[in-house]
Amino acid sequence: MEKLRILSVFGTRPEAIKMCPLVKELASRPGIESLCCVTAQHRQMLDSVLEVFGVRPDRDLNIMTPRQTLSDITSKCLLGMDEAVDALRPDMILVHGDTSTTFAGALSAFYHRIAVGHVEAGLRTYDKYAPFPEEVNRVLTSAIADMHFCPTAGNRENLIREGRQRDIFVTGNTVIDALKTTVRPDYRFGLEELNRLPYGEKKILLVTCHRRENYGEPMKQILLALRQIAEERQDVELVYPVHLSPAVQEAVDRYLRGAPRVHLIDPLSAGDMHNLMARCYLVLTDSGGLQEEAPALGKPVLVLRRETERPEAVAAGTVRLAGVVQDDIVTMAERLITDRVEYEKMAHAVNPYGDGNACRRIADAIEWRYGLRQDRPADYEA
Ligand code: UD1
Ligand code: UDP
Repeated sequence: MEKLRILSVFGTRPEAIKMCPLVKELASRPGIESLCCVTAQHRQMLDSVLEVFGVRPDRDLNIMTPRQTLSDITSKCLLGMDEAVDALRPDMILVHGDTSTTFAGALSAFYHRIAVGHVEAGLRTYDKYAPFPEEVNRVLTSAIADMHFCPTAGNRENLIREGRQRDIFVTGNTVIDALKTTVRPDYRFGLEELNRLPYGEKKILLVTCHRRENYGEPMKQILLALRQIAEERQDVELVYPVHLSPAVQEAVDRYLRGAPRVHLIDPLSAGDMHNLMARCYLVLTDSGGLQEEAPALGKPVLVLRRETERPEAVAAGTVRLAGVVQDDIVTMAERLITDRVEYEKMAHAVNPYGDGNACRRIADAIEWRYGLRQDRPADYEA
């Protein structure tokens, strides 16, 4: 009998970190042929993840250009996918999350009348421009998808509220599956500078910031807040792996470079990043993925945004919205740096985003849909 052909499509760093474990899980199933097409919306940051997880794509659309526009990404993905789909003839296409690759991958599958599975489905802010363009990407992808793999029960509720009743599976987030393979107590960093950080003596603040809706004034405010914290506090070291986006690089050069106690470094491998998070004191970020990883590692997070589509860790008390105003960010960070009680309130490990078995549940659900397994997998409960 011919195997079921499942094609995973992704293109950015976070999609790769969250999809590589699933590509491998699917490959371990005897009835499935696990195929992989990368759009390479990101180039270096994607390749680094593929290397860490040992995944070799069957197709590489290689679309990235410097300062690409949203139209560049979407149109190149769509055109590139035509050839990939014709050559690989998948029964189902899996996309992940909310990037331009996600939406274009789902749209291409629809044009080819191929079923779509949406991994990390059902996250919402209900604000069309925040995050931009991700909120609309995920709504459009939900409209196309045939199977919805939600990380949490709250994500499922969002889809139900929007009128979707069937084919929703609560699986946990595959990022927790990834974390389980990368974080180790005896880990030695690939970047030597990280092995030499004064972990015991100083408070290591791990920072990332890259969102398009933060470009301009919000990013200026965020970077000036970081500068102020670093200048005023001798007991901290800031470690900031700077995203390769030229818009981000320019802002960092302008507002943060040269400040004392700030390590501006290249993007880290997933292994280095996850283990640095495990050893740091506090995370300041506008990233989606970090908001899911840090709680699992017991690290408080200040979110450098006005909203979040990940309210579960806010409810659990380990994540707080700090906003994008310099004074607010400084006040909230200083409180956590100086007030031990306040810090301890936030620094406890919670796992609203998964138990490390999301990939198994997703693969089981796909097998069930195609008659390779009798029972529908049980939903994940936090
Ligand atoms: C993209 C996603 C965003 C996700 C983020 C994760 C969209 C619209 N945005 O945003 O949802 O949170 O990835 O990081 O899909 N670049 C490089 N090398 C790389 C990666 C990026 O040089 O490996 C530079 C290029 O100049 C590129 C620019 O960064 O044009 C922006 O990349 P892009 O994918 O368009 O946007 P991100 O901000 O990375
Ligand atoms: N990450 C990484 N190296 C870095 C910064 C982030 O490996 O220098 C990882 C991080 O641990 C998480 C993912 O990349 O797994 C998040 O990606 P990003 O913040 O770019 O995107 P988002 O999650 O906001 O879409």
